[in-house]
Amino acid sequence: MTATMLDGRARAREIRRELQARAREFTEQQGRAAHLALLAVGDDQSALLFGQQVTRVCQAVGVAYSVTRFAADVSEAAIRAQVAHLSNDPATDGVVVLLPLPQGVRQRMVTEVLTPAKDVDGLGPRNAGNLMLGFPSFVPGTAEAVMALLQETGIALRGKHAVIVGRSNVGGKPVALQLLRHDATITICHSRTVNLADITRTADILVVSVGRPAAITGAMVRPGAVVLDAGINPVPGGVVGDVHAASVREVAGWLSPVPGGLGPLTHLMVIRHTLFGPTP
Ligand SMILES: NC(=O)c1ccc[n+]([C@@H]2O[C@H](COP(=O)([O-])OP(=O)(O)OC[C@H]3O[C@@H](n4cnc5c(N)ncnc54)[C@H](OP(=O)(O)O)[C@@H]3O)[C@@H](O)[C@H]2O)c1
Repeated sequence: MTATMLDGRARAREIRRELQARAREFTEQQGRAAHLALLAVGDDQSALLFGQQVTRVCQAVGVAYSVTRFAADVSEAAIRAQVAHLSNDPATDGVVVLLPLPQGVRQRMVTEVLTPAKDVDGLGPRNAGNLMLGFPSFVPGTAEAVMALLQETGIALRGKHAVIVGRSNVGGKPVALQLLRHDATITICHSRTVNLADITRTADILVVSVGRPAAITGAMVRPGAVVLDAGINPVPGGVVGDVHAASVREVAGWLSPVPGGLGPLTHLMVIRHTLFGPTP
C-alpha cells in the first residue's frame, strides 16, 4: 500500500479564503479591522518563526496585528502586566503569548492573567478546562489542524481507535481531547509507555507529537491507518517530522507529510479563532 498524502497546503489555502471573507465582514460590522496581539519574550527561533507566520497571514487576509517584544530577562510581573493590559483593551480581539517562554518565566503565571475570551491559542487554564469538559473553547492549533486534515480523509471518527504519541499541553493532550469529543476511543502514549509499537499497531488513527525524527517507523503502523505527523525537527537543508516517512508511507492508508501537512494549518488557527470565536 502507498499512503495518500494529506495536503495541508491546499487546505490552508481554503481556510485563508474563509479568513479573508470573515475579516472583511468584521471590518464592515465593527468599523475597524480585527486585531491580534502577539507577545514575544526572548529570542527562541521557533517562537519567533511562528509569530512571523501568523503576522504574514494577518497582513494577507486583512487582520491588524501588533507585536510586543521583551528581552529574555524581563520580569514575569512585566509580562503579566502587558498581558493584562491587552486583555482589557477593547480594541484587541485576540492575544497570543509565543512559546516557549524563557526559563524562569512560568507559563501558568502568564496565561492565568489572559482573559479566556481573548486566549485564542487556548493555552490558559479556562480554555484547557473547557476543552476537557466538552464546553466551547479555544483549542490549540495543532489539535485544530489534526481535525482539519482528518476531515479531508472523509473517515468517520466514531468508534475508531486513535493513538496519540506525546502528551504535551500544546500537542498530544488537546489532540486526544478533540478526538474523544468526536467519539474516538483514545490511547495516549509517552516516554514511559512500555511496548509502544504494540500499541501504535492497534491504531486506526495515529497522531505523533514527540519531537524526535523517525520515532514511528512503518513496522509500528497498522496497514491502512491514518498517520498524522506533528513533528518539526530541523535537519541540514530543511525539516523532517517525527514519522519515518519512507517506511510509513508503504503501510499507512493516509499520511500527513512534513513539511506540507499539519504545519501550514497550525498558525492559521489563532487568526481563525480571533475572527470566528471558540470551537463549539
Ligand atoms: N505542527 C505544529 O504546528 C507544531 C506545533 C507545536 C509543536 N510542534 C512540534 O511537535 C513536536 C512535539 O512537540 P510538543 O510540544 O508536542 O512535545 P514536547 O513538549 O516536546 O513533548 C514531547 C512528548 O513526546 C513524548 N516522548 C518523547 N520521547 C518519546 C518516546 N521515545 N516515545 C514516546 N513518547 C515520547 C514525551 O513524553 P513525556 O511526557 O513522558 O516526556 C512528551 O509527552 C516537536 O517536533 C515540535 O516542534 C509542531
